[in-house]
Amino acid sequence: MKIVMPGGTGQVGSVLHRAFAAAGHEVVVLSRHPARKGEVPWDGRTLGPWAEAVDGSDVVVNLAGRSVSCRYTAPNLKAMMESRVDSARVVGEAVARAVRPPRVWLQMSTATIYAHRHDAPNDEANGVIGGAEPGVPGYWSYSVDIARAWEREQERADTPHTRKVALRSAMVMSPDRGGVFDVLLGLARLGLGGPVAGGAQYVSWIHDRDFVRAVEYLTAREDIEGPVNLAAPEPLPQRLFMHALRTAWGVPVGLPATRWMAELGALALRSDTELLLKSRRVVPGRLLAEGFRFDHPRWQDAADDLVRRVRERRAA
Ligand SMILES: NC(=O)c1ccc[n+]([C@@H]2O[C@H](COP(=O)([O-])OP(=O)(O)OC[C@H]3O[C@@H](n4cnc5c(N)ncnc54)[C@H](OP(=O)(O)O)[C@@H]3O)[C@@H](O)[C@H]2O)c1
Repeated sequence: MKIVMPGGTGQVGSVLHRAFAAAGHEVVVLSRHPARKGEVPWDGRTLGPWAEAVDGSDVVVNLAGRSVSCRYTAPNLKAMMESRVDSARVVGEAVARAVRPPRVWLQMSTATIYAHRHDAPNDEANGVIGGAEPGVPGYWSYSVDIARAWEREQERADTPHTRKVALRSAMVMSPDRGGVFDVLLGLARLGLGGPVAGGAQYVSWIHDRDFVRAVEYLTAREDIEGPVNLAAPEPLPQRLFMHALRTAWGVPVGLPATRWMAELGALALRSDTELLLKSRRVVPGRLLAEGFRFDHPRWQDAADDLVRRVRERRAA
């Protein structure tokens, strides 16, 4: 297949690129700063010659968006919103204008679209969309607004010959340097992998191989469209999540952190505490109902596998 990945130069793009290339697919990445073979320039906002890559392709996976791991200042929030909405809109325009449109357009979204909750898991049918939950900082609703606007842009695209799927993905755990697993493992190895603000908030995650398998599954299943949760079936409270990570690496202790310590840590890491404190209890209702089987449904097993691969990478 010919697979086009706008924004495919980042962490998730690298995971998919490796897998697609290994399977023998042709991969074209759209980047604002093309540097490698197979990368085509675009600006993420306007149609250009890059649209020729979409015409005649089989699959488009749009991953473009300003990183959310940043301070939530007004300019950063604006860039987070605009980079997602603008890129989804212009990808939709390219698909709509294609003489030979792709069979499927997989649009990245996020599990963060669901409400902060502990009481029950969010699936696609019965999950609660966030933005109005009581007892959380008001500014958390902005991430939900971004996710909704992102998905809306794909929904409104007039692409009758192209199936559209929104990937409501949890954190994709891969052993790559600089990825989210690498950052969390680094904290755990420093002895900082304890409960944050009590650690009752749920963490949703997906192992990189299952993420790839789910993307392949959704590409092949011509009857599935709309939002699909990409998350392992067993999200768990943050204190247990970090305990499993410490166990995997063999770190005996993890210092607990209070909310204000988390604020200081987020400031030092140029990030925001929403990423640590929001309870993301998200489950893959549709994938399981359709018969998709996870290779790594449990976090301890997934963390063990990822740690083994990190050690292999370092040894190499
Ligand atoms: N990582 C996860 O676990 C996870 C989970 C759920 C959802 N997501 C979402 O999935 C997408 C991919 O995640 P990722 O971790 O691979 O992100 P990433 O590493 O930050 O990569 C995203 C890519 O988007 C492009 N980009 C950045 N700012 C842009 C802008 N202003 N306009 C257009 N393109 C821009 C960049 O490519 P160029 O610089 O080459 O143009 C960048 O490589 C993101 O939208 C993210 O929010 C990620």
